[in-house]
Amino acid sequence: MLTEHFHNTQKDTGHYSNDLRYVLSLQNTIAAFEEIKTWEGYAKTPLHSLDSMASDIGVKNIYYKDESSRFGLGSFKALGGTYGVLKFIHHALKKEIGDEVSMKDIHAGKYSEQISKYTVTTATDGNHGRSVAFGAKLFGCKCQIYIHSEVSSGRQKAMEDLEATVNRVSGNYDESLQICIEDAGKNNWYVISDTSYEGYTKYPRYIMAGYNVMAEEIIDQIKDRPLPTHVFLQGGVGSFPGAICGYFWEKFPGNNIKFVVVESEYAPCLIRSAQNNQMTSVNIKQETMMAGLSCGEPSLLGWEILKSGADDFITINDSSIPGLMRLLAENNLKIEAGESSVAGLAGLIESMEDQKIAKAMGLNKESIVLLFGTEGATDPDIYRSIISE
Ligand SMILES: Cc1ncc(COP(=O)(O)O)c(C=O)c1O
Repeated sequence: MLTEHFHNTQKDTGHYSNDLRYVLSLQNTIAAFEEIKTWEGYAKTPLHSLDSMASDIGVKNIYYKDESSRFGLGSFKALGGTYGVLKFIHHALKKEIGDEVSMKDIHAGKYSEQISKYTVTTATDGNHGRSVAFGAKLFGCKCQIYIHSEVSSGRQKAMEDLEATVNRVSGNYDESLQICIEDAGKNNWYVISDTSYEGYTKYPRYIMAGYNVMAEEIIDQIKDRPLPTHVFLQGGVGSFPGAICGYFWEKFPGNNIKFVVVESEYAPCLIRSAQNNQMTSVNIKQETMMAGLSCGEPSLLGWEILKSGADDFITINDSSIPGLMRLLAENNLKIEAGESSVAGLAGLIESMEDQKIAKAMGLNKESIVLLFGTEGATDPDIYRSIISE
């Protein structure tokens, strides 16, 4: 059920500014793409066309970017944290050894001894931590992960399987991030976070550029079909929706595509920020089943883009999530979609069910909607139990 809607009167239909280019630019995205596509296991993820679902919902077409197979990690997050770890290693080696350190030499194993002494760390609901752990394993450094009390044991195991040390702490995501930052300071570890805050923006910027590999692939996959008129983006801290919104805005000046940010009603930090016209944190009192969206503090950089790039903000509750996961699993394409994955689809369906909201968003039978299936079965036990209900 859609529980709240806010239309953003601060939407800017002008050009993507130089200030925003400093946050994230197409140039950063292209650099990330050039690097990431050289990694072993890189493969473009599918862009499905959900034709019959689109006609049931009452729009012209739905493009669904299916991230369930990304690098075998099961979510788009594999593009961000892994790239963040590599950029950190590159910068740390340059500082230690000198400017001659090249990516090529890092990949060739020339600095493996130095790299093995570095430790990266992050707090996570699961997916980002898995990506950082994957990066640490791939490039040869150590990894310390912080998870909060509600993160599932399946997600914990996935990170331990990648040789990360996983520290479970009490409290919610935001509290686990605080402990992670404190421990990093004490131990000389480096935080590779997917969220940014005052004084910490360097690596989240690379992580957002990594996410936009999806956007680069989509442009190629759409080919001569029409561009989307609407993009539904599920938000946690807002790095993912900010990155995608910024990409399309810079690439197609005028910002005519409509961006709808979808959050859980239990973690509405982006809609609150839009309503207050300033970054606003919320205290998470209850955990949504959409674990990846359970974040109470917006990312500084994500918010910078969304505050003038997004058209609408909505919140949804969990009620439609299991049914939509089953609907996609039973579709002829047999799409594996995890709990956070179907939030965009839920947001679209629930917006279309309310004529006033659909009208405010300009959604109608001519609309072409881009959705992101941001994760697959990232916790296989939870996924199986939902699908077999
Ligand atoms: C599967 C999934 N979808 C969406 C998001 C939201 O991304 P962000 O926190 O950058 O807004 C997350 C975040 O962890 C996620 O794991």
